[in-house]
Amino acid sequence: MYFIANWKMYGGLKTLNSLNKVISFSKSNLKNKSKIVYCPPFTLISSLSQKLKNTYIDVGAQNCHESQKYASLTGQVNSNMLKESGAKFVILGHSENRIIGEENNLINKKIKSSLKAGLKVILCIGETLKEKKKYKTTKVLKNQINNCLNGIKKSSKIFIAYEPVWAIGTGHIPKLDDLKENILFIKNILKNNSVKVLYGGSVNSKNITDLKKIELIDGFLIGGESRYPKKFIDIIKKTYN
Ligand code: 13P
Repeated sequence: MYFIANWKMYGGLKTLNSLNKVISFSKSNLKNKSKIVYCPPFTLISSLSQKLKNTYIDVGAQNCHESQKYASLTGQVNSNMLKESGAKFVILGHSENRIIGEENNLINKKIKSSLKAGLKVILCIGETLKEKKKYKTTKVLKNQINNCLNGIKKSSKIFIAYEPVWAIGTGHIPKLDDLKENILFIKNILKNNSVKVLYGGSVNSKNITDLKKIELIDGFLIGGESRYPKKFIDIIKKTYN
């Protein structure tokens, strides 16, 4: 199982000390059973990777520019730079970036450059509330997967995070039957068991007892709750108990 923390625009150097609890928990409880990945903002990738050396926890980034070469692009960071800072993963296609104009063909370029740089990719997909109401969910998911992964070999380096846009930060999660159906739908499109499928959207230490019942889910992408070590550890513990 994968537990991936997406810190979004949160955290400073002091925040990193709060992870000592998670580090000791992972050392005594997890070993090879699960993988924890923290995705802080760019500003913390390097310090966090230093801190997490010799632990079972990896570091990831939350986005990157598609170009791998030097370019005069003020404010941008590319996949080679992330890799060099210690990131092993990168989240791409998050709905919070799609909303501000990232489209599938751009995400496709970002995935290609990230894989070339040696990063593992967490590709976020998911329908909006409007699309859900119009019964377009499967069409949207299929379109996002096929376009984002166009020309890309499906492998264990690719993770799909199913994050219904309407479930992010709202406290609402899908009905379990719907979620199971959608995860199965995604797995059927991928036709490759080495691609892990995660769920994200309002995961917390209460609803995890329901979410974990869906055995097809290979892990969780956790936003808000991942800022609190105790809650994050609770989510992991409850997944196994
Ligand atoms: P929340 O867990 O805060 O709903 O965020 C989910 C998310 O967007 C993770 O990428």
